[in-house]
Amino acid sequence: MTVILGIESSCDDTSAAILKDGVVLSNIIASQKVHEAYGGVVPELASRAHQQNIIPVVSEAIKKAGLTIQDINAVAFTRGPGLLGSLLVGTSFAKGFAIANHLPMVEVNHLQAHILANFIKEPGVESRHPSFPFLTLLVSGGNSQLIIVRDYLDMEMIGQTIDDAAGEAFDKCAKVMGLPYPGGPVIDRLAKEGNPERFTFNKPQIPGLDYSFSGLKTSFLYFLRDELKKNPDFIQENLNDLCASLQKTVIDILMSKLKKAAKQTGIKQIAIGGGVSANSALQKAVHDEAERSGWEVFIPRLGFSLDNAGMVAVTGYYKYLAGQFIGLDAPPYARTTLG
Ligand code: KG4
Repeated sequence: MTVILGIESSCDDTSAAILKDGVVLSNIIASQKVHEAYGGVVPELASRAHQQNIIPVVSEAIKKAGLTIQDINAVAFTRGPGLLGSLLVGTSFAKGFAIANHLPMVEVNHLQAHILANFIKEPGVESRHPSFPFLTLLVSGGNSQLIIVRDYLDMEMIGQTIDDAAGEAFDKCAKVMGLPYPGGPVIDRLAKEGNPERFTFNKPQIPGLDYSFSGLKTSFLYFLRDELKKNPDFIQENLNDLCASLQKTVIDILMSKLKKAAKQTGIKQIAIGGGVSANSALQKAVHDEAERSGWEVFIPRLGFSLDNAGMVAVTGYYKYLAGQFIGLDAPPYARTTLG
């Protein structure tokens, strides 16, 4: 029996999970409401909230799994990328826990974990998993990347954003419209009642498989500024159409490079991951394209597409099996890539 404790604290969710022989038995997530008032994550407040949450969250994960600390074989923790102060809390806790209980530690790359979320198994739940090689569109608040996954621990990034991430574009444009943080889910909901063809915004002309979202954000901002001069109620009167049109633009940008990557690589197993993969219109666009192009699509369920420790535990499990451990002197890192 192999039991892994997974710990995630890279941004504003404190999470702990217990995985037993590849099956996630518990996945506890404490989200931080404190940032809503600020329209974005405040790093110092995030670190403090992680400190308050980490012990109760880990205790709850062990309890819910029906196991004890003595059953755990290794501690897997997110080492980066993310907010350094937030990562320090999870990393320090993981080290303290490992020392106190004489356990080996496994470091986990947060991006790799989002991808391996596609391999999470839950007790009593039928799940489908991609086979290798597959192509992943990883879209979150901090990343927009295209990755070829050749094996659990063998990944190659073939495209990435050169500026903002897709989730950042949703969140920043939502803020301009006076919507709460995080804006992505709010835009998703409001867009359902809107006309996606009503307004058009700039799409980037970036060569290859890279993305760019900063131009869209600027174009959206200038468009609103001009319209508000003519009609101060423009946002309220057109909110649903604004959300639907913005969402369509983001998805068009994401889909165009995903289709290009699938064509170039010849890969038809397609996974999407990261917080933005929860977007209903993106999921529909991927499924529609799957019908046209014969793709097989994989999307983690909501609890495993946003930041969570289940994905850290499953990544830690494969690294544990491969004997990839790390020493107590490993510091967290704010920035890193895959590979
Ligand atoms: O993966 P995640 O929980 O955190 C990291 O950034 O690592 O992703 C959070 C991002 C935020 O930008 C949020 O607005 C976006 O995912 N998001 C969504 C939706 N749900 C979350 N964006 C669009 N539609 C959604 N339904």
